[in-house]
Amino acid sequence: MIGVPHVERFVIRGGNKLHGEIKISGAKNAVLGIMPAAILADGPCRIENIPDISDVRMMIKILRHIGAEVETPEEGVVVIDGKNVNANENIPDKMTRKLRASYYLLGALLGRYGNASVSMPGGCYFGERPIDQHIKGFEALGATVSTESAVVVATADELMGSSVYMDVVSVGATINVMLAAVRAKGLTVIENAAREPHIVDLANFLNSMGADVRGAGTDVIKIRGTANMHGCTYSIIPDQIEAGTYMVAAAAVGGDVIIQDVIPKHLESITTKLEECGVTVIEGDESIRVVSNIERPNACRVKTRPHPGFPTDMQPQMAVLLTTCKGTSHVVESVWDNRFKYTQQLKRMGANIIVDGKTAIITGVDNLNGAPVEADDLRAGAAMVIAGMMAKGTTTVTNVNLIDRGYEKIVEKLSAVGVDIVREVFDEE
Ligand code: UD1
Repeated sequence: MIGVPHVERFVIRGGNKLHGEIKISGAKNAVLGIMPAAILADGPCRIENIPDISDVRMMIKILRHIGAEVETPEEGVVVIDGKNVNANENIPDKMTRKLRASYYLLGALLGRYGNASVSMPGGCYFGERPIDQHIKGFEALGATVSTESAVVVATADELMGSSVYMDVVSVGATINVMLAAVRAKGLTVIENAAREPHIVDLANFLNSMGADVRGAGTDVIKIRGTANMHGCTYSIIPDQIEAGTYMVAAAAVGGDVIIQDVIPKHLESITTKLEECGVTVIEGDESIRVVSNIERPNACRVKTRPHPGFPTDMQPQMAVLLTTCKGTSHVVESVWDNRFKYTQQLKRMGANIIVDGKTAIITGVDNLNGAPVEADDLRAGAAMVIAGMMAKGTTTVTNVNLIDRGYEKIVEKLSAVGVDIVREVFDEE
């Protein structure tokens, strides 16, 4: 019908157990820091194990918008050459609104050219998402930062290494300050730095380009600035959250699944919680096997924390698993103020959840019932897919464009292990 928007949804018939293997893609949160970092080099960077997700496609658009040459010579590979970047080109709101990681261009452009202009970033909404720690870090390096009409402008004649203490543990601010500091003069020390696997991956990438970054993965990162950085070839780490999502899915519906191409160490906080629920998790060198034949797993307590704590990006998926566990679970969200909106959708499927401030109290029910639900954000959307797999009957999940931001071929990967899920186009009206 003319004028009626065609959008996509997932239709899931629940109840199937999972059997087989799922191969994990490159990490979204690593690649979205590493692609902007590539413009710091004086030559082309070849980046491998790139996931085919819409956030990556948007980052490619943004990089091309500022003049970077971005080629995709084969599946899973991008080559970025920043030699023709125009640092005066503003990155407009219509691009930054779709992708929070657009703000990494602030650090990268500032580090490389001493000049950046980026509209305020968007991304998933789960409460206020301030960028004061990013700005504080840039200013400590000698930059002048102003925000006018929702555009952040950072300039510096010369960046000088400095000591930066993060008042809160922030992945975004740690990455942004690293990007600016690698080409500053002298030593920068970031204290109370985030320790996520993608921070370590970014440090390894920067060092492959000739930077001198030490201590990533601890809460003190030391960066000695270098005048020249060169191109390199680099492969992105596996996605911790994608792997965790499929681990929880297997635990929630039961079966026997091997999740391939992972770094088991990155998954320890998730493994531990699943074991507490009574699920069997077997670590291999680069794989994790999840086996669950129990009727209903046990309730447990979960509190999100910066790495190595339980990741906030796994909170909605874990909460879905707990909806049918035996007993009452407590889920405390300590990173974000407002990350339980999706529980409304779960209640429509029959879940018993009371949200009290930053805590969700979940009393296990016998089963969820299929219903039309929507993805409120990326990870909440993945959680709805798991809920649909657990539920009796049919669940439709709309707003799946949000899920496509971070999960490569989710329908294909789940179908291959036995899930009855299809993607279909429908008329929104
Ligand atoms: C956070 C998660 C990350 C996840 C992402 C999306 C942590 C430490 N980080 O990263 O794993 O992928 O959400 O769900 O769990 N903050 C400030 N000022 C700032 C920056 C942040 O006060 O300048 C606060 C935020 O409000 C939040 C906390 O610090 O409460 C963590 O934010 P940050 O790590 O920056 O968020 P992301 O990088 O988006």
